[in-house]
Amino acid sequence: MKQLSVAIDGPAGAGKSTVARQVAKQLGLIYVDTGAMYRAITWKALTHGVDLTHEETVTQMAQRTDIRLSTDIKGSDVWVDGTTVTEEIRSPEVTAHVSTIAGQSKVREVLVDKQREMGRKGGVVMDGRDIGTHVLPDAEVKVFLTASIEERARRRYQEMIRRGYEVDLEELKEEIGLRDEKDKNREHSPLRPAEDAIHLDTTGLSIDDVISRILHLCRTNL
Ligand code: C5P
Repeated sequence: MKQLSVAIDGPAGAGKSTVARQVAKQLGLIYVDTGAMYRAITWKALTHGVDLTHEETVTQMAQRTDIRLSTDIKGSDVWVDGTTVTEEIRSPEVTAHVSTIAGQSKVREVLVDKQREMGRKGGVVMDGRDIGTHVLPDAEVKVFLTASIEERARRRYQEMIRRGYEVDLEELKEEIGLRDEKDKNREHSPLRPAEDAIHLDTTGLSIDDVISRILHLCRTNL
């Protein structure tokens, strides 16, 4: 029997990964962070001096790249061709360039194939921008998480400080706004809610509140 698939989409900093990881843990499902895959390719291209705007080169590189995501609930480890890049893919440099890579349809096709393969048998909680609309359109549960830009910037600020980066809250707000605009307005699989997605504004909600609401939705689909 196909197991439950849960798609969690939304803009940057809406809390998707924290929430998705916990939902997966509680339900014994695998968590797939698709943003980490776009980040991994961006990191590799930057590290190897590849022209990020050259779609053909980036696509071929993506095809040859072995991306592994930790399915262990404790971590969010990511490996590229056997090298751990968990911290590196969250750097401001990767964050600033990831939308360029994510805007390329052929690169997306390569990563979407990998994501669909991971979700083929169900039993996954996948988060991203196009999971409910494109990657797993048949997911039983689809959630579109949002929060005000102020709240999202504050959350990202705290995360970056925790990781040891010096960041400015106003600059972060601007960067998040810019990335959202690019993600929403790109031609291929733009950020938008699936028609059958449940919208959840997490501004002012605790993480536990959000998790329990999504768990409730999942349990009604079991
Ligand atoms: O989720 P995260 O903020 O780590 O995603 C980084 C970037 O990857 C997003 O800003 C977006 O450009 C891209 N992305 C995407 N489709 C996904 C997941 C992420 O285009 N499914």
